[in-house]
Amino acid sequence: MCGITGYIGYDEAAPLLIRALKKLEYRGYDSAGVAVIDNERIFVRKMKGQIKLLDESLLSFPLGGKAGIGHTRWATHGEPSDINSHPHTDSEGRIAIVHNGIVENYIKLKQWLQGRGVVFRSDTDTEVIVHIINYFYRGNGGGLLDALIETLKLLNGSYALAIVSADYPDRIIAARKGSPLIAGVGKTGSFIASDIPALLEHTRDVIFLEDGEIAVLYRDHIELRGSEGEALKRETTHIEWDIESAEKGGYPHFMLKEIFEQPKAMSDALGPRLKKDSASNTIIDFDEVKLDERWTQARRILFVACGTAYHAGIIGKYALEHFARIPVEVDIASEYRYRRPVFDKNDIVIVISQSGETADTLAAMRLAKQNGSRVFAITNVPGSTLSREADTVVYTYAGPEIAVASTKAFTTQVVCIYLLALELGRLRGQISAQDYQRYVAALSAIPKQARQILDKKESIQRLASRQFNKTKMFFMGRQFDYPVSMESALKLKEISYTHSEAFAAGELKHGPIALVDSDTLVVTFATQKALFEKMISNIREVTSRGAASLVITWEGVDFFDTVSDEIFTLPETEDSFSPLLAVIPAQLFAYYCAVQHGNTPDKPRNLAKSVTVE
Ligand code: F6R
Repeated sequence: MCGITGYIGYDEAAPLLIRALKKLEYRGYDSAGVAVIDNERIFVRKMKGQIKLLDESLLSFPLGGKAGIGHTRWATHGEPSDINSHPHTDSEGRIAIVHNGIVENYIKLKQWLQGRGVVFRSDTDTEVIVHIINYFYRGNGGGLLDALIETLKLLNGSYALAIVSADYPDRIIAARKGSPLIAGVGKTGSFIASDIPALLEHTRDVIFLEDGEIAVLYRDHIELRGSEGEALKRETTHIEWDIESAEKGGYPHFMLKEIFEQPKAMSDALGPRLKKDSASNTIIDFDEVKLDERWTQARRILFVACGTAYHAGIIGKYALEHFARIPVEVDIASEYRYRRPVFDKNDIVIVISQSGETADTLAAMRLAKQNGSRVFAITNVPGSTLSREADTVVYTYAGPEIAVASTKAFTTQVVCIYLLALELGRLRGQISAQDYQRYVAALSAIPKQARQILDKKESIQRLASRQFNKTKMFFMGRQFDYPVSMESALKLKEISYTHSEAFAAGELKHGPIALVDSDTLVVTFATQKALFEKMISNIREVTSRGAASLVITWEGVDFFDTVSDEIFTLPETEDSFSPLLAVIPAQLFAYYCAVQHGNTPDKPRNLAKSVTVE
């Protein structure tokens, strides 16, 4: 979704704003713009298309000034165009704003303003905000902050806003409700942005604005205010991520880099949660969760998430039911929040979100909390809204995930879920001491095995070059292979734009097989040994209808050779941990298909990294 940034300090603002916008590119956008204050006048440059066009324009015709705001727009109201791009200004061009979010009541507000003679230039919802600020600023005789406070009271919906005014060249004002906003003071000035990577090169000590808060940025300090303008105090949060982790580091795309970072990311997720006991056995030490009676006696656990994180939740259901023998449900956040779910105050709700800012996931979390459930969050972003509002937080330690298609965030979410399931299984007496040791050892070996899979990337690349032109690609599996199929199909459709679906292999004959023909590739995950024979039958059913077949199974299993043209093997682990390994060739396959199609895998069309609108 849109990215916003702002800078006020000692250096030229425009180049810094462009650098920050490039760091926010991954969020998805269709146009970009900046507004800079120079000599108490505001100068705006904005255009449809990539940031590099804006950059080139600013290099040819620079805008001077040491304070400014910038924006990448992901169109919601009004087509992508120069006019609809942000920043938007009031009629006199004295106030400029950038906005991430949606003003739900903008039509009413627009009519109200038009009734007072305001002429609109764009089709955006955002433009109403700047005209209302101007209305209060000119009409009420107060300052810019007072005008903003009055304006915010009229807005329904969500916003992260940054505002500059020619009358206040010494400050930028920013406000947040429902869309993320982070501020920090660096050596050369103060910064504001939608996400951490844009600030990392200047500071790692940041303030996460909370809903209803306003930040006033000056060159060397930031004042935090409440919704009525009252002064607030907030400690800064130190971000451990380093700058390199938000750079491509020699890889052609962030997505490939992030796929290759998975062994380390999974190690980082496991490391702090494994320790040696007095007998030198490796055991799980999940002390951030405090698995008290509420957990061990829980009658039901509920996973709630969106997209890839939802798939991690389905693996969570299989894992918790398998290891801990607790009934588990999994819900898509946007379904959970709008239907009438049955609440039980003894429920534990596990909310999963890489960004910790997904609008539907946050709303689902709040609904669960209001109804007495204890909410446990699995997230990657320290300081995110989810991490601040949940009762308990487990961090995935995946480092910044920049590519829109989630990879290392997913595998680290699943690692955290397995740790939880195993530990809960042990506490509930569902796993013997011997099995527990075996499982913990197997989980500890996963990062190394993931590396072995990545070493075979060329074979997936070759496979993609042979198959990428198929018009349909289906993924199927049973048990733990089913959610992996779902995640693989999502990855492929997101970045290669190929029609792909996932099927529980047992469902094939109940409908999906009607779609299978010679222009179809069927990828079969076959890692559940007890179900091998059933999978062989399913593969025969699709190949006999002309489909090409790829089977992903364990090393040393050779009988799939007789039924499938293509086989990719995985180093063997426990069947129940197979998702952590089996998803890796599927991620690589999606990536290489996207590259073969000439797509940009990091920034797939129509998609945004952080879905902060509902
Ligand atoms: C897919 C993908 C999305 C996200 C979903 C939830 O590759 O990245 O499906 O998983 O938008 O995002 P988070 O995890 O940030 O809540």
